[in-house]
Amino acid sequence: MASASTFDSIWRNGTVWLPAGPTECDIGVSGGKIAAILNRGEGAAAMVQDCTGLTILPGLIDTQVHFREPGLEHKEDLESGSRAAVLGGVTALFEMPNTKPLTDTVEAMADKVARAKGRMWTDHAFYIGATAHNADHMAELEKLPGCCGVKIFMGASTGDLLVADDANLLRVLKSGTRRVAIHAEDEFRMQERMGERIAGDPSSHPVWRDDRSAMEATVRAVKAARAARRRIHVLHVTTPQELEFLKDHKDIASVEVTPQHLTLAAEEAYPRLGTLAQMNPPIRSGWHRDGLWHWLGQGVPDVLGSDHAPHTLAEKGGDYPDTPSGMPGVQTIVPLMLNHVAEGRLSLARLVDLMASGPQRLFGLVGKGRIVAGYDADFTIVDLKARWTIEDSWLASRCGWSPFTGMQLTGKPVGTVLRGMAAMWENQLAAAPFGVPLTFEETLRA
Ligand code: DOR
Repeated sequence: MASASTFDSIWRNGTVWLPAGPTECDIGVSGGKIAAILNRGEGAAAMVQDCTGLTILPGLIDTQVHFREPGLEHKEDLESGSRAAVLGGVTALFEMPNTKPLTDTVEAMADKVARAKGRMWTDHAFYIGATAHNADHMAELEKLPGCCGVKIFMGASTGDLLVADDANLLRVLKSGTRRVAIHAEDEFRMQERMGERIAGDPSSHPVWRDDRSAMEATVRAVKAARAARRRIHVLHVTTPQELEFLKDHKDIASVEVTPQHLTLAAEEAYPRLGTLAQMNPPIRSGWHRDGLWHWLGQGVPDVLGSDHAPHTLAEKGGDYPDTPSGMPGVQTIVPLMLNHVAEGRLSLARLVDLMASGPQRLFGLVGKGRIVAGYDADFTIVDLKARWTIEDSWLASRCGWSPFTGMQLTGKPVGTVLRGMAAMWENQLAAAPFGVPLTFEETLRA
């Protein structure tokens, strides 16, 4: 049929990451969707993009970022944060609720979705924050348009969200059905251990917020999940002990790890970066980092999230422990992981599993995560061989720094394509942002 061979655009000559693996083929796109997987040279289109030498991955998704709008826009806003994301090869993201005001009501969620309209460069969804006040209303709140689910902080971090005790944890988990994302650090143990913090010495951060703080919260979270018969997602896991435990609870608990916990080690990070390395849960020892890689090799982590948490250099320039926790990462998550691929620590197939099919599978994203006919034409197009150095001038985050500045990498995002249109190509942005809210299987009928 002649009509079937004419498309809005064709992405030619790349190595395409189909579900079956890397394939030498072209992709025809129409109406923002993948219309056909084509043989080389097949079909015609108004726009043909040559991708010779490049690898076309499914759009890579960052399932944990903090973009600070509303209320803390001097650190970041929805536009600047999502611009950083597309420059780094991220096509879609889930944003966290510890803004000011918190995203913990119908009105606050609607406000965030409205603010994002026409200003976000990526497709996006927002977490609703759980508190003791809204705990019994999660069933309605988690279904709001633009919402990816509920977020619980079991330990205090940046902002005022906290569900520390088992009774309230259970209340939250008993209201609603979607997978609940949990920051698992035990508030009670950390309160007791405040004295472990050494003034002016951020290397005491992981001593204060120690392995047991993380492990005890994770064990409590899984116990509560079983009691409530509710799926949970344990965010930014930092200890091999938790991963060994979680491998026996994969029926109910999914797992995220971050590139920074896979890349940095306390022994070198705190002397080199000082408070810039301070985050929650903390950067831990090389032993911990190597343990995360071990369990990554065993398949236990389901997804990667950057936990992009920008604070200004002025804020970070204070004296520990009066300095805020968090580091930016949404622009460096893909480059850093491509470099780990180049250095042989994981396969490209596993990276696609962690950042495309993994998020789709856990959260029931509609039309994302795979290059197949009928899905959205979201592509992260990379040059696996490019050698380059991360420089501050490349960074778009309003905070203006990265713990990875100066790092030499192999592998670079060349294009970030959303629904058939390049939001970024060779570091140039589209004329205007065109990200839209993500949709989820569980709320399709809401
Ligand atoms: O280090 C962190 N910073 N961990 C969190 O959980 C929150 C984040 C932030 O928002 O600054």
